[in-house]
Amino acid sequence: MKEGKQITLALESSCDETAVALLAEGRQVLSNVISSQIPIHQAFGGVVPEIASRHHLENINDVLQQALEEAQVELPQVDLVGVTCGPGLVGALLIGVATAKALAFVLNKPLVGVDHMMGHVAANYIQHRELEPPFTGLIVSGGHTVLVQVVDYNRWALIGETRDDAVGEAYDKVARILGLGYPGGPKVEEIALKGDPKKIPFKRVYLEKDSYDFSFSGIKTAVMNYVHTEQQRKNSIDVADVAAGFQEAVLEVLVEKSIRAALEMDTGKLVLAGGVSANQRLCHWLEQRCGEEGLRLYHPDPLLCTDNAAMIGCAAYYKFMEGKQDDLDLDAYPGLPMAYDYLQCKRS
Ligand code: KG4
Ligand code: ZN
Repeated sequence: MKEGKQITLALESSCDETAVALLAEGRQVLSNVISSQIPIHQAFGGVVPEIASRHHLENINDVLQQALEEAQVELPQVDLVGVTCGPGLVGALLIGVATAKALAFVLNKPLVGVDHMMGHVAANYIQHRELEPPFTGLIVSGGHTVLVQVVDYNRWALIGETRDDAVGEAYDKVARILGLGYPGGPKVEEIALKGDPKKIPFKRVYLEKDSYDFSFSGIKTAVMNYVHTEQQRKNSIDVADVAAGFQEAVLEVLVEKSIRAALEMDTGKLVLAGGVSANQRLCHWLEQRCGEEGLRLYHPDPLLCTDNAAMIGCAAYYKFMEGKQDDLDLDAYPGLPMAYDYLQCKRS
């Protein structure tokens, strides 16, 4: 590690990944260690909150140690401590927040709590060193589906959001219906490659004309009804065709609404973020449509798409650069509304 660089230590524990990262100057990743609990939760078909918190507690010190070793950084060299403070599972978030507060206190260094969704967007700053706001963002994860206008590093405006299920949640539920296991997104994407997306034309839900909102609960029910009806008729179900038909229907709406929003916002840039942005069909489709419309698409590599602490460190860095800082009464905010940041945007 070169002397004189600003070092951020970041922690992420909002769901089922215990993660610690070290960054230099906000965008240079020195280490990004992720301990996934997926195999533990697989047996239950989804994340069990109590088990997640317990494992975060057991893992966090080892993950921290590994991150410091890989980065070749000693704790006293850290200049800033960043941590996800919401949204997420409260017990899981608390482990990261308590650890971050202890580190900030012992090291006598500033502490910055980060909105997990701001972190997902910041993954793109790491991946694309030249990227700067303003841009239009599509954030697609297991808990959120939102279209935002990112005005600058710390100010956003909401353009549209899901009125029911998040798109990742829809993938996970459809995977469960089809018996594909957890986490559903990658499994549905994989099997959809072998299917015909036109065989079962699930309805595309665009809602009202001009609306930028989304709805994914209807298609989940449509998949369930299709499967039950075919089972009652004693017909065999081609899981690959169902997965491909489902994926095509949800991705078409995501692609077309985000292209329309980016054109209307007129920044020339569309930024994809969140766990579902690991989906290659979504990336390729958006790349093609952005090419046709003269927009530039940015998305992170798969490792930076799903939950990690490097993205949280980058978001913490830009908050700190703007003079934002938390004190030791920072708490976990499980339902942290994204309005937290939009309101700041509106107020200033
Ligand atoms: O961002 P993330 O790691 O955690 C949350 O903040 O929610 O996103 C996890 C979500 C899960 O619902 C998972 O099924 C979905 O992202 N996901 C995918 C893919 N990889 C992960 N969905 C579709 N295709 C993928 N390749
Ligand atoms: Zn996430």
